[in-house]
Amino acid sequence: MKGIILAGGLGTRLSPLTKITNKHLLPIYDKPMIFYPLQTLVNAGIKDILLVTGGNNAGDFLRLLGNGHEFGLKGLQYAYQEREGGIADALALAEHFCEGEKIVVMLGDNIIEGNIVKAVNQFQRQREGAKILLKEVDSPQDYGVAQIKGDKVVHIVEKPKKPVSNFAVIGIYMYDATVFNIVKTLKPSGRGELEITDVNNVYIEKGKMTYDVLEGWWADAGASIERLLKVNMMVYESGANKINMKKQ
Ligand code: DAU
Repeated sequence: MKGIILAGGLGTRLSPLTKITNKHLLPIYDKPMIFYPLQTLVNAGIKDILLVTGGNNAGDFLRLLGNGHEFGLKGLQYAYQEREGGIADALALAEHFCEGEKIVVMLGDNIIEGNIVKAVNQFQRQREGAKILLKEVDSPQDYGVAQIKGDKVVHIVEKPKKPVSNFAVIGIYMYDATVFNIVKTLKPSGRGELEITDVNNVYIEKGKMTYDVLEGWWADAGASIERLLKVNMMVYESGANKINMKKQ
């Protein structure tokens, strides 16, 4: 399975910190944000990784991560998103890299306490379709929210005013190779972006979506300055920087 980390976008919710650098290069405790999703994929046994970024500071990722040797990788691939067209638009740039294989996509501002090994192993065995990870949160209106019936997710609503559950869809998505055909059918949302939630709803409608609930804490460090500060404290207090990053 191949891995894709999405680290484009403008990071406007963290302005002015993001006026002069990319959000994913900001510090989370003692490491740049991007180290955490990269290590999460490596810990799940994913060695073939593409990083998609954009904007004015794309070159800094190359200087920081190089060929990924620090993470035990033989090499690291890069792609450049020329406009902030949304998460699914950034994902479209990975089509040639995936060569028909299943993929794990991780948003560059998502940080987890534990690991995704169990879910990745389950998805290896899943014949086709997609798998998402959910987490119960206090403020579901800030995220994609899953409506669950029995053992199935029946619909996802992006940042609903009246959430139907407390289950947020976290920024780690597993797809088969048909995802790129689905992305090609999408229309921009109200915020002018190709939404990953629309991709996930297509898999749900086809009856090809499974889910798991993530163990340990999860945080979207890019949601606000307060969240960024809190995630720094969560990493510091839990030692997640040490547990998950044995090689650094
Ligand atoms: O964190 C989980 C949430 O992430 C999900 O619950 C939502 O369903 C999903 O839409 C997403 O919501 P956000 O509003 O937090 O997404 P954001 O715009 O912050 O983008 C998340 C990451 O995706 C960001 O760290 C970099 C990447 N990205 C984003 C955009 C808009 C790109 O690579 N290119 C882009 O054009």
